[in-house]
Amino acid sequence: MITYAKLSLMSVGVMLSAQVLAAPPAAAGSPRIAEIIASRCALCHGPEGESASAVYPRLAAQHPDYISKQLKDFRDGRRKSETMAEMARGLQDEEIAGLAAFFASRKAASRQPGDADFAAVGKFIFQRGNSYSGVPACASCHGANGHGTHQLPRLAGQHPAYLEIQLKEFSKRERTNDNAVMHTVAAKLTELETRAVAIYIGGLQ
Ligand code: HEC
Ligand code: HEC
Repeated sequence: MITYAKLSLMSVGVMLSAQVLAAPPAAAGSPRIAEIIASRCALCHGPEGESASAVYPRLAAQHPDYISKQLKDFRDGRRKSETMAEMARGLQDEEIAGLAAFFASRKAASRQPGDADFAAVGKFIFQRGNSYSGVPACASCHGANGHGTHQLPRLAGQHPAYLEIQLKEFSKRERTNDNAVMHTVAAKLTELETRAVAIYIGGLQ
């Protein structure tokens, strides 16, 4: 039986090979990059960066510098993750740049609008922060639509479950790389605010 996942993998394979013909070697669409994505990344993050499960982050439309930095940090052990340490092992810097350019070039195709009441609380936190407990507005760094910048990750449309895990890891400093800024933010969020802001962000396009 051909499943939906297999069908979309096949159609992406066709699209990829069309790009391979047009793109110079070592660019996002090179055969080497396409092979790494198909054999190592697509299973969890999807062939187009739209991950299959809510605990795997979406990579489509993420900023290339941010993707590269995280991959190097996984590879070199700065960001601890059993899964991603294994996946990033042995990747060369130019392969990382090619992978980052590929996923950054994909359109953010979906979003996950969740419970409207949670999203309303989340919107307040995201856009205005919580001045009573010292939570800054997420929008002040990640942008009003959560699109981020070259230095800051895009959050819009990210899976709420992944976001919640990361916020809790930042809070406990279990996200081991560059956690200084996000630790001070996440440590001040209540459980309710964490869930609410994750749900709101998941619905941003
Ligand atoms: C078995 C599933 C799996 C595979 C295969 C996999 N990843 Fe991941 N990836 C994850 C998980 C889980 C995380 C979340 C990190 C964590 O906290 O463990 C992640 C995180 C990431 C991140 C960080 C995203 C962010 O928003 O901070 C990047 C970038 C990434 N993966 C790229 C890749 C690339 C490129 C490949 C292929 C070389 C790949 N991954 C293969 C599961 C996977
Ligand atoms: C002062 C600036 C600043 C503010 C305010 C801020 N962030 Fe961040 N955020 C960052 C930086 C910088 C990173 C990247 C950390 C890294 O390089 O690993 C980040 C990373 C993240 C990530 C990880 C994304 C991923 O793909 O893994 C999440 C989730 C996040 N922020 C959520 C929030 C939320 C929710 C708020 C508001 C409650 C917020 N941030 C407020 C600067 C900020």
